[in-house]
Amino acid sequence: MQDSNCIRTATPNDLARIIELENLCFPKLHAYTRRQIRYLLCKANSTVLVETTGTFVRGFIIILYRRGTTVAGIETINVDPVHRKKRIGLRLLSAAEQYMKKKGICKIRLEVAITNHAAIRLYEHVGFEKTMLLKAYYHFNHDGSRDAYRMVKELR
Ligand SMILES: CC(C)(COP(=O)(O)OP(=O)(O)OC[C@H]1O[C@@H](n2cnc3c(N)ncnc32)[C@H](O)[C@@H]1OP(=O)(O)O)[C@@H](O)C(=O)NCCC(=O)NCCS
Repeated sequence: MQDSNCIRTATPNDLARIIELENLCFPKLHAYTRRQIRYLLCKANSTVLVETTGTFVRGFIIILYRRGTTVAGIETINVDPVHRKKRIGLRLLSAAEQYMKKKGICKIRLEVAITNHAAIRLYEHVGFEKTMLLKAYYHFNHDGSRDAYRMVKELR
């Protein structure tokens, strides 16, 4: 049977599903708002990739570039809870790396809550290393703050 899974760049038509996935993956107080997601997808200096089976989007990743540097950030990576542990996260990260390499990016940076063990393991799996503990990095209205690790991977 032909494999119908693919990874492609997102379009504005994916906005509603990306927002839905964000809200499935994070509690309301911690999730990016609709406005933030729309900015990241449509206005920012970014690449957004989606993983699909047929036309159904199961996960996405957002890369943010910094003008004038060869450093890029992974803003977030989200996989639908019912489709986790099928290597979708790994495939999205691998595709993101290929995009970044083509753009001449030499280093990827990201921040992740120190309690987010699944994401930390995923990043370590593909060669990211913890480089810094950022105290109270995430501030949430009415929900305190959370520490984060900065993780870095050099692209060769
Ligand atoms: C983190 C996340 C993207 C992983 O997606 P996924 O498609 O389920 O991950 P994969 O199947 O590609 O897993 C690849 C590797 O990551 C690690 N991993 C993934 N989920 C894990 C878990 N629940 N516990 C421990 N390790 C995990 C493992 O090393 C795994 O390799 P293995 O299958 O050989 O053990 C997913 O759990 C998610 O969307 N979480 C909520 C959103 C989030 O926190 N995003 C990160 C923001 S910084």
